[in-house]
Amino acid sequence: MAADLRSFLAELDEQGLLARISRRVDPATEAARLMRELELRGLAGLFSDVGGSDAALVYNLIGTRRTLGLALGVDPSRVRDRFRSALDHRIEPVQVDDAPCQEVVHDQSDVDLRRLPLVTHSAGDAGPYITAGAVIAHDPETGARNVSVNRMMLVDAGETGIRMMPPQQLGVIQARAEATGADLPVAVAIGLHPVDTLAAGTSLPAGEDEFALAGALRGEPLRLTRGISIDVDVPADAEIVIEGVIPAGVREPEGPFGDFLEFYVPEMANHRLRVTAISHRRDPILQTMVAGSREDVHLLGISREADIVAALERTGVRVVDARVGPTILTCALSIDQRYPGEAKNAGLAALGAYPWLKYCIVVDRDVDVHSADDVWWAVANRSSPEHAVVVAHGAPAFPRDAHGIHGSRAVIDATIPFETWDHYERRVPPGGPPLNLDEWLA
Ligand SMILES: Cc1cc2nc3c(=O)[nH]c(=O)nc-3n(C[C@H](O)[C@H](O)[C@H](O)COP(=O)(O)O)c2cc1C
Repeated sequence: MAADLRSFLAELDEQGLLARISRRVDPATEAARLMRELELRGLAGLFSDVGGSDAALVYNLIGTRRTLGLALGVDPSRVRDRFRSALDHRIEPVQVDDAPCQEVVHDQSDVDLRRLPLVTHSAGDAGPYITAGAVIAHDPETGARNVSVNRMMLVDAGETGIRMMPPQQLGVIQARAEATGADLPVAVAIGLHPVDTLAAGTSLPAGEDEFALAGALRGEPLRLTRGISIDVDVPADAEIVIEGVIPAGVREPEGPFGDFLEFYVPEMANHRLRVTAISHRRDPILQTMVAGSREDVHLLGISREADIVAALERTGVRVVDARVGPTILTCALSIDQRYPGEAKNAGLAALGAYPWLKYCIVVDRDVDVHSADDVWWAVANRSSPEHAVVVAHGAPAFPRDAHGIHGSRAVIDATIPFETWDHYERRVPPGGPPLNLDEWLA
């Protein structure tokens, strides 16, 4: 059987990483608060009664490096390498007829998005949103498939807002269709195995198929089946598929929405999705993702870490590890320096490799980039501000700068001066490497 959301939930359950919430939860006032607690505890959550909806809800599938490793079938320390190797070994999807995602079909006369357990994520949001859908569309000129993740505001039974804009491919594709007056057919697949969502959230060059990356991450082809109402293929093992069109020339108010910077983007005129069919499995499970959450940062961070490490390795830098987060505008990079000042060059190269990177903190090989405490320890105890900070003035980190704070970028060099290890020896407990506490508790 192909890996799907249900097989991944079973794996989480086996490892004690899945919390089940069967009490009725209010999607407007309670769900998001519980979701935040799950995130803080590093647990995925399966809600079986969200406001009386027939569908269940899952949250925080890959909010930790451990669960991301579980999804990719590798040790957490190998997650980025696994992603990099998948980029080089794509596996094309296959077409199948047996499609669990079409066990139940609602045609246009019968669709009602309000029956889904859609959650309001932030206090100032315009309403509930779909955030964890893989949006599938084809370039009207080349026919190439694009898959992306886009926020979709619930409008009514058969309509959502959808946010897209160039240079993201979906925005480019829709603009091409619109230029000829054509509506753009799209399918939105929700409730996938997390590696499929990881592929969907990756921005591949135009014309490259994110579903072939999903195949590579799975180690087997993704199974696709033809949509019910539109000529778009959809993942056969998805929990829920929303099919529809983005009408040409239509822009309507959408937002406000608490976005990945954790601020509200104001209401704006955005595209609409008109639903033409909804299909789903029996007892479907809807996934939701909160913008700026650990899961969101993981999803969007891995491909960026891969880009940074690849660029640095091309210049000969001995990269030990890299970690994008806790927001996708920051990265901690550990290296083994070859010459005095290399940390600053490495940090600048990282900024070059990933245009939204605002701060790159460079640390020595003995600092754990996955621990914000350890990185800040290095900043505090191994750097002096007057020598540590290199600022690229006038180089914008993030283009939509509502607060006037993203107009420059910086490297923080928190490494010791070259080869002065004797002077900077870090204390460790005596007797050898860390002991396994669990063995001693027993
Ligand atoms: C939870 C979540 C929500 C996102 N929302 C949007 C969005 O509303 N609009 C957008 O353009 N990108 C959004 N993104 C980022 C895109 O999904 C991502 O950049 C995507 O890979 C773009 O791919 P493309 O360039 O192939 O279209 C979101 C990502 C995540 C993980």
